[in-house]
Amino acid sequence: MKINENYRSLRDSYLFSDIAHKVAAFSESHPDRRIYKMGIGDVTLPLAPAVVAAMEEAVREQGERATFRGYGPEQGYPFLRESIREYYRSFGAAVDADEIFVSDGAKSDLGNILDLFDPDNTVLIPDPVYPVYVDTNKMAGRKIIYCAATRENAFLPMPDTSVKADIIYICSPDNPTGAAYSIERLRAWVDYARERGAVILYDAAYESFVSEKGLARSVYEVEGAKECAIEFCSFSKTAGFTGTRCGYTVVPFALKRCGMSLHAMWLRRQTTKFNGVAYAVQRGAAAALSEEGLRQIRANLSVYRNNAKIICDALDTLGIWYTGGRNSPYVWLQCPGFTNSFAFFDYLLEKTGVVGTPGGGFGRNGEGYFRLTSFADETTVRGAMAAFSAAFG
Ligand code: MLT
Repeated sequence: MKINENYRSLRDSYLFSDIAHKVAAFSESHPDRRIYKMGIGDVTLPLAPAVVAAMEEAVREQGERATFRGYGPEQGYPFLRESIREYYRSFGAAVDADEIFVSDGAKSDLGNILDLFDPDNTVLIPDPVYPVYVDTNKMAGRKIIYCAATRENAFLPMPDTSVKADIIYICSPDNPTGAAYSIERLRAWVDYARERGAVILYDAAYESFVSEKGLARSVYEVEGAKECAIEFCSFSKTAGFTGTRCGYTVVPFALKRCGMSLHAMWLRRQTTKFNGVAYAVQRGAAAALSEEGLRQIRANLSVYRNNAKIICDALDTLGIWYTGGRNSPYVWLQCPGFTNSFAFFDYLLEKTGVVGTPGGGFGRNGEGYFRLTSFADETTVRGAMAAFSAAFG
């Protein structure tokens, strides 16, 4: 018997579990201290009333013989895939409902999609980056190369034609930096991928935070993207589904490699290994995209946007450099007075009770930076930034 030796190359634990443990230990040893949790990007506002009503109704249907449903359609219910197609259409991206696969969230699909690719491919990943892209490829023993996201390139690396990559990860608006590609800049990546026959794995989990015109909501706003890109998205951040679980992946019919349709391969993979998403959850997700649902979830998003502004305003006053926050729930700041982001994490927690995420946890280029999330209630954010300002003012 042999284990997967690639696991030896992983860090002992996942970044966010690490932080949760550190914070739990601090709370236990300092029971009287106020803690401001702005580390993990987990939503705090409840589900929209339209979502709750749709889920309640669906549960009732499941309790009646006449309306009970067993296994659902393989790619998700047509009512949800149609709603998602319409949602894409609302910002100018054309996807076919049959290109959409409903899932339990972007993270699982971003890992699972790797089943479609040979371990011998070279993977290009930005640094700093959401750790899942790196860890899932390490688990498969794939060769990883990095493209540097730095303050100099506004944390938006552009393709280097001298670099050979087969699989390319892009997250926009980005986790952790909050930087967002314009449609124009994204075009350069699509052209690069098409020229090389590479595949872009595009994580759009934070698209609903885009507020500036000209920034991409979807890779499919770029012409030709359907021949080279798979897009992953989720209701987690858009509609507060982190505890409810629903997402979707778009695998275009036009995406073919080595004579194989990636759509057909993904369908084959999902029907073999994935059980689908609960009917009631899919009803809730569809309700989030209804006219009423969209109005309600946008009201929630504006609370997070306002929180991001509170963070940015405080940093502006303190003269601390940052990016993100405008089109993203994440604010990415330079650690004031620290070069080691983990030391800054410890200092900040001890001194102010504010919890963020050390930039170094997202990669080498993240060192010296720190991520704060706006997924919190306004009182927490105001309290956190007051404590932060008192410490660094
Ligand atoms: C984060 O804090 O980066 C998020 O929790 C990522 C995720 O959704 O898994």
